[in-house]
Amino acid sequence: MPAKWTFEMDAARAFFWRDLQRAGSVIVPYAGKTRFDAETRKKCCFVDVDESLPDLDFVGKCQEVLPKLAEKGARYNMALIDPPFSEYMSNHWYTSTERQNDVARAKDLVEKVLSDDAVVFTFGFSTTGMGASRGFTKTHLRIINHGGNHWDTHCLREIRTNSTLVKFL
Ligand SMILES: C[S@@+](CC[C@H](N)C(=O)[O-])C[C@H]1O[C@@H](n2cnc3c(N)ncnc32)[C@H](O)[C@@H]1O
Repeated sequence: MPAKWTFEMDAARAFFWRDLQRAGSVIVPYAGKTRFDAETRKKCCFVDVDESLPDLDFVGKCQEVLPKLAEKGARYNMALIDPPFSEYMSNHWYTSTERQNDVARAKDLVEKVLSDDAVVFTFGFSTTGMGASRGFTKTHLRIINHGGNHWDTHCLREIRTNSTLVKFL
């Protein structure tokens, strides 16, 4: 059975854990419920539209919060993007109405608050992620199978490769 809160699954958490420990600052635009240990929590910025969730940095749609962070010059070198995987899940599992174009818009906005050396983890039913059009290269993929006829969870790791830094490596 897939978990409603993706990061409660050991296989999902383990996929990004090493990068999370190394990261200086992390933007989590679809925060959900899962929080980390106190030390790791300090460098994360959790945004979710559901005000009943605990310990959020910003309550609101990430499409509205991210532009404000960009305006203030906020920069993160890691993002964990775990939107509702489908419109059905959005309506039935979470208190939101997120559609796939909303997720694409959120990714455009996340891109604006990332540093040149950013690493991005995306979770969902596909391996689209940030994609080459936003200047990202896929480096790792983990597929979590839930058995039965459930959709697999695709966990994707990408690095930003359109930056000056990477071009000259
Ligand atoms: C798949 S869950 C994230 C689970 C989280 N990774 C965890 O393990 O706890 C998706 C979350 O996105 C939130 N959400 C949906 N639309 C949103 C939006 N426009 N802006 C911010 N959060 C949104 C939902 O409230 C839900 O908590």
